[in-house]
Amino acid sequence: MSERTLAIIKPDAVERRQIGAIIQRIENTGFQIRAIRRVHLSKAQAEGFYAVHRERPFFPSLTAFMSSGPAVVLVLEAAGAIKKWRALMGATDPAKADAGTLRKEFAESIERNATHGSDAPETAAYEIAYFFAGFELV
Ligand code: CMP
Repeated sequence: MSERTLAIIKPDAVERRQIGAIIQRIENTGFQIRAIRRVHLSKAQAEGFYAVHRERPFFPSLTAFMSSGPAVVLVLEAAGAIKKWRALMGATDPAKADAGTLRKEFAESIERNATHGSDAPETAAYEIAYFFAGFELV
């Protein structure tokens, strides 16, 4: 059964012109890209997206970073897409990410960590609907 997940190429990676390299890795790994858009989130939009992290000490800084410049949001589809995308990204903290993962290769720090992925089916449904209407998934 195929599954969908939301992916974000974060502002740090967009600024460093790594969109193409990351999308190449996504396609090489066997995902179908069902939707893709460049966005520049407002602070309020970043706060809404990361609402589950509201109480965390890093929330103000994370949402400032995520609204600091353009990002690219994508819906990826594959069998087991949520786990598969998290495996390709690697650990949240690039210092702990395995060799060959996107965060090992592209991320600067635990906050400026190049990519985001949904962590469970319920979060994927919320996050996909945050950016895309059903008719935009093709
Ligand atoms: P992401 O996968 O987008 O989910 C939440 C984000 O919060 C995470 O990637 C990091 O960018 C950020 N984050 C998580 N933990 C920390 C932390 N300890 N300090 C700073 N930022 C963090």
